[in-house]
Amino acid sequence: EDSKKIKLEQDPSLPAPVEVKLKDVPKNLEKRVKVSGWVKSRRDQGKDMVFLVLRDGTGYLQCVLTGKLCHTFDALTLTLESTVNVYGIINRLPEGKTAPGNVELVADYWEVVGKAPGGDDAYSSLFNTESNPDVLRRLRHLVLRGDTASSVLKVRSRTMKAFRDHFDSLDWYEVNPPCLVQTQVEGGSTLFALNYYGENAYLTQSSQLYLETCLASLGSVYTISESFRAEKSHTRRHLSEYSHCEAEIPFIKFKDLLDTIEGMVKGVVARLWDEPETRKMLVELNLRKNDEANDETKAAQIVGRDFADIKSLIEQPFLRMEYKDAIKWLNEHGVKREEDGKDFVYGDDIPEKPERYMTDAINKPILLTHFPRSIKAFYMQRADVSELKGYEDFMHDPPTESVDLLVPGVGEVVGGSMRIWDTEELMDAFVREGLNPETYYWYLDQRRYGTMPHGGFGLGIERFLAWITNRFSVREVCLYPRFTECCQP
Ligand code: 4AD
Repeated sequence: EDSKKIKLEQDPSLPAPVEVKLKDVPKNLEKRVKVSGWVKSRRDQGKDMVFLVLRDGTGYLQCVLTGKLCHTFDALTLTLESTVNVYGIINRLPEGKTAPGNVELVADYWEVVGKAPGGDDAYSSLFNTESNPDVLRRLRHLVLRGDTASSVLKVRSRTMKAFRDHFDSLDWYEVNPPCLVQTQVEGGSTLFALNYYGENAYLTQSSQLYLETCLASLGSVYTISESFRAEKSHTRRHLSEYSHCEAEIPFIKFKDLLDTIEGMVKGVVARLWDEPETRKMLVELNLRKNDEANDETKAAQIVGRDFADIKSLIEQPFLRMEYKDAIKWLNEHGVKREEDGKDFVYGDDIPEKPERYMTDAINKPILLTHFPRSIKAFYMQRADVSELKGYEDFMHDPPTESVDLLVPGVGEVVGGSMRIWDTEELMDAFVREGLNPETYYWYLDQRRYGTMPHGGFGLGIERFLAWITNRFSVREVCLYPRFTECCQP
């Protein structure tokens, strides 16, 4: 009851505080500061001392409240995730103690900005690391405040920048293609259809076709845009909406395309590694348990891993392997088709599981090339078999200049190809795939008005992130994942 009567006041004789973000606190040793943040943890030592750890998105700081400062009603009832302003001097930590940044703020005044609930609604009773993934997903807006999600989102931000910096270093332009479209790119089965002022339209599956229209205007181009796929299956690597990093390059050969993909992945990992803060987060995340791995998936749960392993994978040349040799590899290693338990044959799609099994066994990034036409998209250029060996029996379903980049732990992260650049051949492809060439008039015009050999690729940002942060599922690296039955929050 007395606590309600205790009122704190700032001492006007103290120096005016410098307002700082938590990451800048260590630069202000022995100065009086004002910090603002969320209460991440609280530890009481006797009646006269409370240790608070604050978080503000830029860093963490231990604050020490003593005497009267911890006797107020607000101090006695202060809950986790409440917001506060704290004033005081920044000191080096006493010998033998540990706290973020090895400093602490010894408070002379503090105030509550916004209180968080206690009791059953207290932040700490809502969920923990053992909670069911469904619970974590419904509370994603609060889970984001945790260390793992916060680091993942910071790494994600750095990764987006690293891709842009990489393309910038090549002098490529970024473009922003539309998400509302009337053409399909990757097959009708995953299209999200919508009513567009009375006409049929879709959410885009890929910006590729639009990137191709930029070549004559801008040269090589890239985009990081949202792509949408109505994927009905629940897997650890499929989302309904994902961030798609795509690029398109004119006047190249297939080998140049492979080199470009390999160079990009290596370049981006190197950029992240070279930033001390990002590297530290990556190292920690790689050692951390995965939230998304539940009982069902425990067998497959990825355990802690040394990020330096990824760095060393990146320093070697990626393995280049033709699709037909992957089929051979699967058969030689006793991997069977799930539907009938038989050997794989040329022309089979290699499903997620066998693909990951092979990639994990080989344990290197693999550029898997030359998929047969029947299992790939309509726009892919046929390979020149005079430059290849062993395709005599497969000419009924000829190989294409196509590539998937597979990485251990995740499988496919990049898909790309050379594009059909001859008008007639493209018309044949439309007919074969049952697509109406009229809706693609603008795409065909690229072949009519000055065609050229060209190619490009798309990388799923979430799959790339799941790989480098060692997360079990792509859902864990999304701000708010979208997948079957989940469109909230
Ligand atoms: O292999 P995909 O379907 O290729 C294309 O869309 C090409 N048009 C890209 C291009 O050449 N410009 O998709 C490319 C990548 C995949 O390798 C994967 O990383 C990611 O996009 N991806 C998905 N990521 C999350 N959820 C999904 N449902 C995804 N579908 C594809």
